[in-house]
Amino acid sequence: MIEPDRTIVMTGASRGIGRVAARRLVREGSRAHLVLLNRGDSPDLVEELRAHGAVSVVRTDLSRLRSVADAAAAVAERVREGMLPPIRTLVCNAGVQHTNALTETADGFESTFAVNVLANHVLVRGLQRHLHPRARVVLTVSDTHVGDLRHNLGMVPGPRWQPVQTLARTGAFPDPASPAAGRTAYSTSKLAAIYLVHEYARRLAPEQSVVSFNPGFVPGTDLARDADAVSRFAMRWLLPALTLTPLATSQTTAGRLLADAAIGATAAPSGSYIDRDRVARSSDESYDPERERQTWEAVEALTANF
Ligand SMILES: NC(=O)c1ccc[n+]([C@@H]2O[C@H](COP(=O)([O-])OP(=O)(O)OC[C@H]3O[C@@H](n4cnc5c(N)ncnc54)[C@H](OP(=O)(O)O)[C@@H]3O)[C@@H](O)[C@H]2O)c1
Repeated sequence: MIEPDRTIVMTGASRGIGRVAARRLVREGSRAHLVLLNRGDSPDLVEELRAHGAVSVVRTDLSRLRSVADAAAAVAERVREGMLPPIRTLVCNAGVQHTNALTETADGFESTFAVNVLANHVLVRGLQRHLHPRARVVLTVSDTHVGDLRHNLGMVPGPRWQPVQTLARTGAFPDPASPAAGRTAYSTSKLAAIYLVHEYARRLAPEQSVVSFNPGFVPGTDLARDADAVSRFAMRWLLPALTLTPLATSQTTAGRLLADAAIGATAAPSGSYIDRDRVARSSDESYDPERERQTWEAVEALTANF
């Protein structure tokens, strides 16, 4: 096997879009050591990936920010000690969507905001000083941040921006026990992630880049695993038919596109939004330097003790 000359750190590789992307990253970037920040050991996946390249797992629960900070510190130490090559790519792909806005993490945060926003921030900040001078950071976001029918197919309400301290806690949206509130928390968390991408772009080193990546609607993954039985059935068995139309992306294609975004095969300046396979404009609402600064300051404060 070829000696790895770069490290790729990735969340959300255990299933769905990320699992496909991990396969591609380890096959195509066979000079990469892929570090998976997974909740479990994922033995089947690791065995499969190791047939193609170097892979290790750092067990990480993204809903517990101490676990995320510890994972970042463990990776950083292995890079410092020369046990891992420099980090060329950080893929923050993991995400959750709940059927309410009341799911609280052990740290006391609303779970969607904790996993989709705060965990990424702890990772980016924890690894920032250890990134290669030309590293790329990718955050998986979503069409749903736009909020119109064309982008959410009527399934996920658009974002409802509020002060970040409110968004980070349970009950931030009307009728918080409802699926609509949970899905609003989801689209709003993805808007927050785009704000942070804009802010990170201002703060990373000049030749480093950070991008948001939108795979489009990808039916068939486990993102709706908390939903009611009818929705789960539709997501798994009916909606995949939409991948034959421009309305949806198959898991295979979404994973390939995420890998392309991660390794820089999709050319994209820092701060940009990759819509599937090309740079595009995200929603008008997502360009707001004041909210971007406020989001940065708030997440810095909320994650300071981890
Ligand atoms: N599917 C879509 O239509 C769609 C559209 C736009 C954007 N996205 C985004 O794409 C990304 C991947 O989603 P997917 O559709 O592939 O969903 P998925 O099949 O549910 O995969 C989600 C991934 O996130 C991981 N994860 C969730 N909570 C975690 C935690 N607390 N600690 C560690 N890992 C955790 C999961 O790990 P476990 O195996 O441990 O649960 C899994 O690897 C997400 O950011 C999602 O928001 C999806």
